[in-house]
Amino acid sequence: MRKSIFVFLAILFQAGIIATAQIESSTPVNQLVIIANHAGPVISKDIYGHFSEHLGRCIYEGLWGGTGSSIPNTYGIRNDVLFALRDIKVPNLRWPGGCFADTYHWRDGIGPQEKRASIVNTHWGGVTEDNSFGTHEFMKLTELLGCDAYINGNVGSGTVREMAEWVEYLTSGSDSPMTRLRKENGRDEPWKVKYFAIGNENWGCGGNMTDEFYTNVMRQFSTYLNNYGENRLYRVACGPSDFNFAWTETLMKDGASRNRFQGLSIHYYSLVDGWNNKGSATGFSEREWFQTMRANLQMDQIIKGHKAIMDRYDPQKTKGLVVDEWGNWFDVEPGTNPGFLYQQNTLRDALTAAIHLNIFNQHADRVKVANLAQLVNVLQSVILTRGDEMVLTPTYHVFRMFRVHHDARLLNIDLRCEDYAFGDRKIPSISASASVDKDGKVHISLANLNPNDQITVSCPVIGDTFKRITGEVLTASEMNAMNSFEKPVAVKPADFKGYNYKDGVLTVTMPSKSVVVLEMTK
Ligand code: AHR
Repeated sequence: MRKSIFVFLAILFQAGIIATAQIESSTPVNQLVIIANHAGPVISKDIYGHFSEHLGRCIYEGLWGGTGSSIPNTYGIRNDVLFALRDIKVPNLRWPGGCFADTYHWRDGIGPQEKRASIVNTHWGGVTEDNSFGTHEFMKLTELLGCDAYINGNVGSGTVREMAEWVEYLTSGSDSPMTRLRKENGRDEPWKVKYFAIGNENWGCGGNMTDEFYTNVMRQFSTYLNNYGENRLYRVACGPSDFNFAWTETLMKDGASRNRFQGLSIHYYSLVDGWNNKGSATGFSEREWFQTMRANLQMDQIIKGHKAIMDRYDPQKTKGLVVDEWGNWFDVEPGTNPGFLYQQNTLRDALTAAIHLNIFNQHADRVKVANLAQLVNVLQSVILTRGDEMVLTPTYHVFRMFRVHHDARLLNIDLRCEDYAFGDRKIPSISASASVDKDGKVHISLANLNPNDQITVSCPVIGDTFKRITGEVLTASEMNAMNSFEKPVAVKPADFKGYNYKDGVLTVTMPSKSVVVLEMTK
């Protein structure tokens, strides 16, 4: 192990990246070498994006109460949720699905709310969708959040014309039937729309297509998604889920297809024991904790696989990988509608968030957008609501702590650490990434995946020295600690003092099952 760190440092030395190789005479078991004077690619802030689907209580109750609601709101959007989301600096928000997107006909959701068509949400609980939250309400939400819109178009049951006209309605400033319609509905100026997806999971709920069929359909739809005025659409082609590399190969190998999108989406949900044994979000043993972490870490392999294909056809890295659905998927909370996918959120989910965000940071050269599923009241949410109450989940706190990486530049690291073993399986006990921001501050985010033991990691920080260090930690005494409506702040970040910085080496002792973010200022 010691030899490989020497090799790593020697390479950096020869490349002129570091002037002196600082390495302790006997390499500690847990060592994270950080090269502080050689910034890599920008970590797109859009890696920290979110997803809001017409599913369960995400939109209705979670985000939207309507202007007549007794819950304080701005244009119908809950103030408590809005203000909490501003604090994590949501960079982009995906809408209206998910599977719902390929059943959504945008014209149902414009015009006077009382006249909008009611439909049945066939994917999610069979409930009636009154379309009171539609295009104008979503765009207002993005404006209030100060984030980019990520709209997912309907390929599965929609038409090319319908999708093309939605883009025109949203973004055109010229006189046309669509822009006149928008103006009649109260919006004179076109909006800016950054991300636009051409279907969702078209291999499944989005039309059960084959990769070749979808590739042709995507080429057709994309042809009519125009850039109006100064708006530039980042078109996202529907990619596969998990390890389905063949789908990515099909989309990437065809030059005519490659020319029609800027991003390629992949989905991956972490499951404890497969789709039939998802397990409880809150009642779990160490075995399920371990299985979850193990599943989370697979995201790295999945990205590497898709990235290798993209690198072959797009070595200049002009196309982004868009991980627009990720997170833990557990059984719904007992007594809730199975179609609503409502799950609680514990310290385990906080570790999941840290692991994923560190992985996305590390792949900043290719991963340009990622969206946690989902924002409020569905799957691994950052916020839960009950009536007029709101709870910030452990996952929320990780997104707040990791804000420091938004648009910062990735730092090269080399991590060697002990394993966390359970039964006859093992995984690395530490997850990490580091970045330098525009002010020269270095941020290191770490997670100790071991729920039993604290861990000390020695971090030689090479190429620069620092005067001030601060830190935050998120942990709890129980693996399944959570924020409930009865105890809403049981899990919250605290100041972290478990570090020492001497002779250019930062030594950090993390509690068991914790997430730590450190800031180093020159
Ligand atoms: O996030 C829930 C669902 O999971 C989405 O609607 C779909 O895209 C995925 O299968």
